[in-house]
Amino acid sequence: MMTVTGLVKRFPGVVALDGVDLELRGGEIHALVGENGAGKSTLVKALAGVHAPDAGTMTFDGRPYTPAGAADGLAAGISVVHQELALLPYLTVAENLFLRELPRKAGVVDRRRLREAAARLLAEVGLDVAPDTPVERLGIAQMQLVEIARALSAECRLLILDEPTATLTSREAGRLFTILRALRERGVAIVYISHHLEEVLELADRVTVLRNGRSIASMPMTGVTAPDLVKLMVGRDLAQEFPVKPPTEPGEVALAVSGLKVAGFEGPLSFEVRRGEVVGLAGLVGSGRTEAMRAVFGADPALAGQIELFGRKVRIRHPKDAVRAGISLLTEDRKSQGLVLDLPISANVTLAKLRGFLLRFGQERALAQDLGQRLHLRSAGVSQHVRTLSGGNQQKVVLAKWLNAGADVLIVDEPTRGIDVGAKYEIHELLLGLAAQGKALLVVSSDLPELMGICDRILVFSRGRIAGSVQRADFDAEHILTLAYSGYLKNGETP
Ligand SMILES: Nc1ncnc2c1ncn2[C@@H]1O[C@H](COP(=O)(O)OP(=O)(O)OP(=O)(O)O)[C@@H](O)[C@H]1O
Ligand SMILES: [Mg+2]
Repeated sequence: MMTVTGLVKRFPGVVALDGVDLELRGGEIHALVGENGAGKSTLVKALAGVHAPDAGTMTFDGRPYTPAGAADGLAAGISVVHQELALLPYLTVAENLFLRELPRKAGVVDRRRLREAAARLLAEVGLDVAPDTPVERLGIAQMQLVEIARALSAECRLLILDEPTATLTSREAGRLFTILRALRERGVAIVYISHHLEEVLELADRVTVLRNGRSIASMPMTGVTAPDLVKLMVGRDLAQEFPVKPPTEPGEVALAVSGLKVAGFEGPLSFEVRRGEVVGLAGLVGSGRTEAMRAVFGADPALAGQIELFGRKVRIRHPKDAVRAGISLLTEDRKSQGLVLDLPISANVTLAKLRGFLLRFGQERALAQDLGQRLHLRSAGVSQHVRTLSGGNQQKVVLAKWLNAGADVLIVDEPTRGIDVGAKYEIHELLLGLAAQGKALLVVSSDLPELMGICDRILVFSRGRIAGSVQRADFDAEHILTLAYSGYLKNGETP
């Protein structure tokens, strides 16, 4: 259906694509893998007509394909779910779904038809929200599902998904896979980008590996293993998936939360985390983990509850209070909450530290350079604007910023979402290093193997309550998942 030959795309200071070849066939799921900054999203944008390549050729249905913009891509039948969400927050879910073609009756928008059509699409992706809900009220996973539903709303022949499952739980991802397989049956060509190699192994028929802007391998998936892919992506073997958390003697209680009530959730929640301890928060998307952490941090108001830091009662009504008290929060939505996109990397990294005084420029750069090196940031230098970094590299900047803030209690929400396998390991090591220094860590993650790898203890959230607390010695995926589903089941039901 589509061929790409020798594609080149340069940005100031970076060659994002440096000769990419690709062949896409109808009825086939083609995985695209590579480290953060390898060029995956740039390639997608070239296919979609968003970026004009500097060199190389593309054909679609055997004819030269030279889109002048995203509209040409759409007209050709190419639908894209981009890595960075692109919904209009003040419009409703239904309006976002059909923005390009609102159903009309006598010139005005036919609200009923709009709602019905939206409800059908939402049911298809398994998203249980009213079509009239403004998008800004949705959580990030729900927004992701709206994006996917929108891509399905257009009659597409080539569907490209850039890390669609980064925010989804395994159940939601499973539903997406079912949809993708059905589209494949209908002859649609699908490009699937993911850092979750087990998904790629499960789903894809072919795979292309990008490294430093080049397509270095393209092959059928039969017989390909995860270690094979990792080796091609990073150019070396990775010994193990997770660094081993050394058993620690937990210190004094750093953060104690009692009777916390958050709007929209049952609660009340009580938990604590000690110095040197890494406590994981497992649960389904929407189980209240993020909301609870935002309330602790003062980003959302708590309806009730008490917070103690090192045995002293503190009042946190604003993130400023939390930062002053020594609590940091790495948010799950880096784009809107964690970064100033139009400032350079160096300024972003030192942002959380600037409290009323200015760091000297040189100092700021040195700090940023050091953190960038530790996290293997791929950029044209610390003065590159964050907006133009790859998705995973943006995530590393957010992380660097909070690591640099020097808090005693660090809350991280989905810290490795969208991070490639090699850098994931570095981030896990950084987190464990902070725990070893006596910091207290709370880690929200939908990646259960990750939590089981790096945590001392896992709190399992289910429908706004803590359904259980599991110690490292008792970690068992099935047990944890059963707890996570427990709040949603009637008596006697099993997940
Ligand atoms: N608009 C832009 N201006 C300047 N540089 C850019 C721009 N877009 C991308 N880049 C650079 O191009 C390179 C490739 O980025 P790209 O987003 O394609 O990576 P990726 O493979 O999608 O990574 P990730 O897994 O982190 O999403 C990176 O070095 C990035 O900083
Ligand atoms: Mg990307």
